[in-house]
Amino acid sequence: MPPTRADFPPGFLFGTATSAYQIEGTGGAGPCHWDSFAATPGNVAGAADGRRACGHLDRCTEDLDLVAAAGFDIYRFSTSWARVLPEGAGTPDPEGLDFYDRLVDATLARGLKPALTLYHWELPSALADLGGWTNRDTALRFGDFAALMAERLGDRVWSWATLNEPWCAGWLGHFTGVHAPGLRDIRATARAMHHLALGHGLGLAALRAAGVGQIGIVLNFEPAFPAEPGEAARAATLRYDAVFNRFFLGGVARGAYPELALEGLGPHLPRGWQADLDAIGAPIDWLGVNYYTVKRITHAPGPWPNWVEVPGPGRKTDMGWEIAPMALPDLLRWISGSHTGDLPLYVTENGMAAPDTPVAGATGPEIHDEDRIAFLSSHLAAAREAIAEGVPLKGYIVWSLLDNYEWAFGYGKRFGLVHVDFESLQRTPKASYHALKRMLEDRRP
Ligand code: FCB
Repeated sequence: MPPTRADFPPGFLFGTATSAYQIEGTGGAGPCHWDSFAATPGNVAGAADGRRACGHLDRCTEDLDLVAAAGFDIYRFSTSWARVLPEGAGTPDPEGLDFYDRLVDATLARGLKPALTLYHWELPSALADLGGWTNRDTALRFGDFAALMAERLGDRVWSWATLNEPWCAGWLGHFTGVHAPGLRDIRATARAMHHLALGHGLGLAALRAAGVGQIGIVLNFEPAFPAEPGEAARAATLRYDAVFNRFFLGGVARGAYPELALEGLGPHLPRGWQADLDAIGAPIDWLGVNYYTVKRITHAPGPWPNWVEVPGPGRKTDMGWEIAPMALPDLLRWISGSHTGDLPLYVTENGMAAPDTPVAGATGPEIHDEDRIAFLSSHLAAAREAIAEGVPLKGYIVWSLLDNYEWAFGYGKRFGLVHVDFESLQRTPKASYHALKRMLEDRRP
């Protein structure tokens, strides 16, 4: 029996999430580094970009109706920096600001709590041209962007996140090169990782100065396990864990980066980086935990970080990500036990990509996604277990409301509770949407 709202403590909040570049369609926004990354052959499946995406810009009220009708409490979305500041700095585009103003009002009008993430990866090209996150100045400009958004929306937004998954922006963007800007350079990686952390710190300070509350950051976590016995695999796993799970968490919660990450990144960090740690480690009000999967790691020859990922034994989603709900309670317990203490935690993303199976003989577009229902049920049960063990988990947010632009995978990976036909842009709630709606309606005492 999957858990329902009634199985969670009173006041526990449920939500669903999207991000700007993945759903809006770029119309009117300034260029961003995902536009040019996607336009470069070989980077994105089908060279797909966010130009049209889900056409959310013109359909945001319809989309918010879907969020509200499912019975969610929170709508988590992000703001495109390039839509608000087409040059990354300087004069804002009033239409860009107006769009987010209307979006926040429309969210509130439906009784939903607007949870805003300032940066979900679409860096304005004008800043990318100056070195993007490898340039310290980008972190300062991000602080200015945060101040601007707080000034306009601070009276109505329920919660603020500075960055979404800075590990992806830093590591995937500059080390493996599979995200924009597509670099493969350890020095660029170290600097980008640090400047992202500093961007968080300066954004946080700007939001505090503007007097807004409920400020946090959204980090992604993948519990890592040695893929084989032996010291080499164990050491590689610890290095992976330090870079993936503890770099930003350490910076934000302790004002310190883990030693094992500094072994490789330290020599490439910008001079005087230690002086930024006070800003990076300033107190936050909540931490967002994005959780999708676990990793199996072993040693690889060659230079630092000498690790390689090995496919695990469990079932996989359409992304090839191993399904591991049982690792979630341990993860949450570890985060609060070792780093954040009583700080409220939210699962800010959890969900799966699954190919849709249309129902044979259906008269309308019915979409069965039983795998997603099972995935969400098992992770909700895991979240409940963590709460029962005393973890201060306050909410759970599903990725994603809509099928959308899945970055380097283009439109091929479907994470939505709601199916999107990318030709007609028609939305069709899937079976998982209806299942969650039933689950959220259950308010038995
Ligand atoms: C997370 C991202 C989100 C989406 C999901 C599947 O890493 O925050 O934009 O791509 O993965």
